[in-house]
Parts: sequence; C-alpha cells; structure tokens
Amino acid sequence: MDKIKLIEITARLMESPKGILAIDESLLTCGKRFETLGVPNTEEKRRDYRELLVTAPDIEKYISGYIFFDETIKQFTKEKRTFTSILQTKGVNIGIKVDQGLTDLSLHPGEKITQGLDGLSERLKEYKNMGATFAKWRAVYTIGENTPSEDCMRENARVLGKYAALCQEFSIVPIIEPEVLIDGDHNIEKCYEVTSKNFDIIFAEMWKLGVFIPGVILKTSMILPGKDAAEKASPEKIAEATLRCLKAHVPVGIGGIVFLSGGQADEDATLNLNAMHQGEPLPWPLTFSYGRAIQNPALQSWAKNPEDINSAQELLVQMARNNSLASIGEYKK
Ligand code: 13P
Repeated sequence: MDKIKLIEITARLMESPKGILAIDESLLTCGKRFETLGVPNTEEKRRDYRELLVTAPDIEKYISGYIFFDETIKQFTKEKRTFTSILQTKGVNIGIKVDQGLTDLSLHPGEKITQGLDGLSERLKEYKNMGATFAKWRAVYTIGENTPSEDCMRENARVLGKYAALCQEFSIVPIIEPEVLIDGDHNIEKCYEVTSKNFDIIFAEMWKLGVFIPGVILKTSMILPGKDAAEKASPEKIAEATLRCLKAHVPVGIGGIVFLSGGQADEDATLNLNAMHQGEPLPWPLTFSYGRAIQNPALQSWAKNPEDINSAQELLVQMARNNSLASIGEYKK
C-alpha cells in the first residue's frame, strides 16, 4: 500500500468546495429510474444519458470525482472518446462501484449482506488500468422493530473491512458506504442510535484489519427521521444530530466524510448539508456524494426532450453548484 498516494487521492477528492457525483446506478436501478419517466432501459439510452453527465461543461468546478458502474467506465462518447478520458482531461477523479449488490442474509429475514468479494482483486486491477483512483462499496441497513441486527452489522463490517483493505493494497481509495435506509416511521433518535452502533462496529473492524484510516472516505446517510415518521426534523436538528454522531463515532483521522442523498427531497439534501457548515470548523472535510439529489432535474429534462442536451446539462451543473455552495455553508434557498 502506498500511503502517500492514498492521502493524495483523498485530498483531491475532498478538495473544497467540491463533492463527488454518483452515477453508478446498477442496470436494475437505472431501469427503475428510467421506467418512471418512460425511457426504455437499453444500453444505448443509458449511454446517451451518461454521456451528457460526463460532458457537462464546467462541472469540474464543483465535482472532484465521478463514481461509475462497470458498464459506464467502459463506455465511449458518440465521438468515440472514453468517458474516463473526458473526465481525466478535466482533472476529475474516476471512481468505480465494485460491490455486486445485495443478497439475503441467511437466517435474518429482511436483512441484506453486500456481495462482491469474489474476484475483487482482478476487478480492481482492471479498473485501475482504466484510470480508477477510488472505489465504492455500499452496505444497507433497514430500521425495523428488530432490525438491523448486530449480526447484520458485523457481517457487513467484515466485508466492508476486507474490501477497504484490498483497495488500499492497490492504492485505490475505498469509499465505505453504510446506508441506513430512510424507509420507515422511526424517529431521529432511533436513526442516531443505529448509525452510532454501526459506526462503532465498522471502525473496530477496520482497526483490526489494519485499514489505513486517513486513506478511507466514509459515505454515510444523514441522521434523519424515517420518511413516514410522524415528526419531521428541521435542517438544524438534522445537522446537530448528524455532527454529534460523526464526532463521537468516526475516527478524527478519517480522510473525509461525504453524504448520500438516500431518497430525501433534492433540496432537503442541500439544505441539510448547508446547515452542517454554519458553526465551528469541523474535524474532517465534509461534503456531498449525491446521485439523485444532483441528477434528478437533468434526468427529467432529458427524458422529456432527449435532443436538448444543453438544458439537461445546465440543470445538472446548477445542482452541482448548489451543493458546492452548501459544502461551505453558503447555499441560499
Ligand atoms: P443517492 O444520493 O441517490 O442516494 O445515491 C448515492 C449513492 O451512491 C447510492 O449508493
């Protein structure tokens, strides 16, 4: 492992006032998003859409890295340039989702474990040759009456730790993404409690496996009430609970922390991040790594008018800019 290189990549990704754009939807997830807008889920359509995301003018002012899916890292523009070379020319880091999705956790109804460790070394080698400097692995936890179980947290932590260690052997910065789902009617305190316990388990595992923490980026859900909760929370309350949790349960030496949007309303994701940057300077760089909360307006515009690439790109860059402002506490509604 090349620690200096890991720190350099992490610093480039966390450079203020930028964030990371996730365009790593699997074929299935992309299909679901397309379906609601009446777009057929073909390779050609996915390529057309992703080309506009990759070629959006000036997006590099707000975005330090793009996270690709296996199909997308290998795709080309209509002019036969690889997507990766377009981003490299703009100085944007190439990331790749390397997990292979969720499967049922045995004997734990309703709980999931993330798969993809098989053949991971070979895939990392291949992606590195294509220019990837960072990777992402997502684990998912559902808040319910008896979930997430400690077994689910421990099993996922074990896999996240192995993935992170392997990435670092290749000097690829691992993003670890434990996502506590927004689904449910739980209150904000419950989300705090689950997320805190999960962080404790994850970082104990990282420590045990010798993962180099300054060369890791944590991609987390915010501390939020469930989307069907009776009581909603203000951005100030969400910011306070999220920062309290991160300060108490994430090592201060972590390379950086980024948020997923996780099905929040687009603007809520921006306002909540903005609220986290109103107080004292934070112990770690803290920014966004949104998928939907940046892409939504652009995707809707393109689905309606596929020929009008400019309008879709303008919307994409506008959303990236809003979140860039939020990452320094300067976004105004
Ligand atoms: P969302 O911001 O749409 O939640 O996507 C981020 C992501 O990478 C999910 O794995």
